[in-house]
Parts: sequence; C-alpha cells; structure tokens
Amino acid sequence: MQKVSVNLPTNGYDVIIQSGLLASAGEYIHSKGGKVFVVSDSNVSVLYCDTLISSLTAQGYRCKLYVVKAGESSKNISSVMPMYSAMIEFGLTRSDLVVALGGGVVGDLTGFVASTYLRGVDFVQIPTSLLAQVDSSVGGKVAVDVVEGKNLVGSFYQPKVVLIDTLLLSTLPDKFYVDGMAEIIKYGCILDKKLFDRLAAIESREEFMEQAEDIIARCCAIKAGVVSRDERDNGERMLLNFGHTYGHALEKYYDFSTLTHGQAVAIGMSHITAISEAKGLTKQGTREKIDRVLTNFGLSTTDVADPSQVVSYISNDKKNLGKDLVVVILREIGKGVLYRTDKEFFEV
Ligand code: GLY
Repeated sequence: MQKVSVNLPTNGYDVIIQSGLLASAGEYIHSKGGKVFVVSDSNVSVLYCDTLISSLTAQGYRCKLYVVKAGESSKNISSVMPMYSAMIEFGLTRSDLVVALGGGVVGDLTGFVASTYLRGVDFVQIPTSLLAQVDSSVGGKVAVDVVEGKNLVGSFYQPKVVLIDTLLLSTLPDKFYVDGMAEIIKYGCILDKKLFDRLAAIESREEFMEQAEDIIARCCAIKAGVVSRDERDNGERMLLNFGHTYGHALEKYYDFSTLTHGQAVAIGMSHITAISEAKGLTKQGTREKIDRVLTNFGLSTTDVADPSQVVSYISNDKKNLGKDLVVVILREIGKGVLYRTDKEFFEV
C-alpha cells in the first residue's frame, strides 16, 4: 500500500493506492451520518458496485446506488437536477457522504453535485480509469459541461479521501490505458526525469502493471505537491497543462469526437516541444525523447490536421489570460516552466 498526502491548510486528505483496495474501501470511508450515496456509470457499476456496496454495508452504512450513462454526455448540467432529486428522496443530509466510483466523468460530475448539494456534503473519489487515478481524482477540480463549452461550471472542492485500486485497471480497454499513459508521461516531462526514464524502459502494458502502484503513487505525489502549493491554479498548477493548449484546441477542432484527451495531449506535448526547440528555448533532442516514449505506449505524436487551423481554436482556452497566452514548455526533460507568450508562438 502507498499513501500520498495532499497537504492543504484546511482541507487536506490522503490518496491511498493499493491493488485490491476496493474490497475494503468501507474501512477508509468515515462519515458522521449513516447514509452513502454512490454514483457510478453504466459500464463500471456492473463490474464493481457490488464489491463497494458490500464493503460499505459491512461498515454499517445504508447505500443508494445512482447510475449515469457511461460517457462525456453525462457530465452535463442537465444530469445535475435528477441527481439532487435522488439525493433528497434518499434523505441524504449534510452529515452523510457521496462516493464517486468511475472515471473522470463520474468524478467531476459527482464532485460538483457534492459541492453544491446542501451547500456541500463530503465526498470520496474511487477512480477506476488510469486517467482519473493519476489526474482528475486528485486536486479537487470538479465541473460539468454546459452548451457553451466543457467544464465551464464547477468549483474547487476537495474529496475527503481518494481510494485507488490498481486492480480495477485490468478491465480497462487499451484505448483508455493509453489515454492515461499520456498524462503519466506528462508528469515525467514537466517535473520528474527519473519517472520519465523509468517509463522509457517499459515495453508492455503487463510490465507497466507490475509497477502500477509505484508509478501511480509517484504521479499522485507530484500532483499533490503542485496542488498543495497552488490549489487555485494561479501559478505552478498550470504546469500540469503541458501539451494541453494545443491538445485542447485539437480536441475542439475534432469536436471532441476523434481523439481521446490523452491522444490529443500527446500530440500537444510533441508539437509544442518541436516549436520550443526550434526557438532555442528547449534543449535539442527533447522532442525526440518524448516522441519515443509516447510512441512506445501506442500514442501518436502527429496528426493530419492543419496546425494553423487548430491554432484558431486556442483562443477560448480558459488558461488564456487576457491577450497573453501562458503555455508550458520544457527547458529539458523534467524541467517544465510557464512561458508567457501569445498565439503567434504556435505559428512557425
Ligand atoms: N488536470 C489539471 C489540474 O488538475 O489542474
């Protein structure tokens, strides 16, 4: 078992990582009330809800399972009202607790609902996708999509504990394993050369799984450090956006239908590093190293889209401060920095 602490002034918490943890999840969930509202999606619930609910019931909790349709369309403001109604009908009070069992969609939606129901009830994250285990479940960013765009309504609302069971990754389709790997490689690129080198030596998913507890714990520790120094995303936390400026634009260009988030971020990391290297801002050969690791994990580093068209989708990114654009570049592997520029940066 590995434990990572997210140290915050008033709302710190632990991230616990262990293979097989779900079966004893109830032992790590503490609530003054007796009710737990469990939210999951239509894919995950059939696989893992029984295990979770048995574990909670064994601790004396009364549970209500609420299942949303799997997929991004559920992370929408329109999903929120029916959830509130189900919580009210269950009689969930401010002493009770909400658990998110699923990937980023379930975690973000549930966290947002928990942050607003009765002005805030405690919630616990049990992420089931690799991407959620290394990124979205840690750090308290919760949000839903509205017609005008993704993640435009949300809050910073930290969970009480994050429980990561690496065994759950065994049922994750390859596409989503690769999706999460992009974010793991990102951590190595921006802050941890040792992690990057470790990833460069991995040759298969099986080999990764042998080291999963360790690698996921390292990613969570990196994120916990960044979040504890900049919870509200005003400075250092923006480093986590390496590859995301161009990556988000690419996702938007394809109307969020062709590439997964990780696939887009992989192309974004390679693309921005090619540019920063050409401008003399990054050590020569860095892009080649990144490309090699990404390709090894099944991530493409290029796309057929015309970059000048993709760049036109950058302007609405919420990390775009006024006229300036803050991008993340690498000085070299393991040394990410924020770089204030403008959109012309991408027009080489
Ligand atoms: N996923 C980036 C962040 O949590 O800030």
